[in-house]
Amino acid sequence: MLKKLTELKKQLSQNKKDIELLHNENIPEHVAIIMDGNGRWAKRRGLPRVAGHREGMNVIRKIVRQSNKLGVKVLTLYAFSTENWKRPKDEVDFLMRLPERYLNKELPVLMEENVVVRMTGSKEDLPRFTLNAVENAIEKTKNNDGLILNFALNYGSRYEIIQAVKKLYLSIDNQTESVDDITEESLSKFLMTGDLKDPDLLIRTSGEIRLSNFMLWQLAYSEFWFTDVLWPDFTEEHFNEAIRVYQKRIRRYGGV
Ligand code: FPP
Repeated sequence: MLKKLTELKKQLSQNKKDIELLHNENIPEHVAIIMDGNGRWAKRRGLPRVAGHREGMNVIRKIVRQSNKLGVKVLTLYAFSTENWKRPKDEVDFLMRLPERYLNKELPVLMEENVVVRMTGSKEDLPRFTLNAVENAIEKTKNNDGLILNFALNYGSRYEIIQAVKKLYLSIDNQTESVDDITEESLSKFLMTGDLKDPDLLIRTSGEIRLSNFMLWQLAYSEFWFTDVLWPDFTEEHFNEAIRVYQKRIRRYGGV
């Protein structure tokens, strides 16, 4: 009884904090997260690194729900970088199975929550079972119109920019277009993020202060928020804190 009452009190206080945020209205439309620190989380507990990734996967559910609740429109999660192939084979194998594990379990919840699943990254080199899971979720959720849950999977920003430049080059009609027709907009169109708005807020967990080849073009004017909290320990309250900090920032986009 007492435990239930304490839980209820905690929930009420959480709702109050969420409402405080919602009243402000300045909710970032697109939040991107570098979910870092899974390995260290596991190591501190004497567990194999993959245990950290498993725990990290469970955090995603909470943050998706919270994003939806706060009215975030796009949540991009850096799940696997083009550099992550360099990790030991058993870890890569485990990471490649995560989308399947996550989506098998979560797809009904994502449908219920009106979430649209997307992927940003190169499909080449991804195992068939990984792609099947992601493509199936993209297909099943394509008519939803709520939060876009965008997995950056086999994603590397420099590779993405090179691909975009190549595509842009091939798209130029030498008869009617000149080099001056190349603009930020024309290049952006060929990035893997396509029509997605650039992130307003970037969160990186685990105390590392770097971008690790993540959305280098798209983050040009984003607000950054770093925390020492390891991704498996990341909670809705940490997420709210990042949003509150964002709400107080004044974005000048190079102006005054
Ligand atoms: C970085 O931590 C994390 C990753 C490379 C993988 C992140 C993946 C998840 C959180 C789960 C993804 C789930 C789905 C559904 C795609 P790290 O291993 O580099 O940690 P460390 O810096 O402490 O070693």
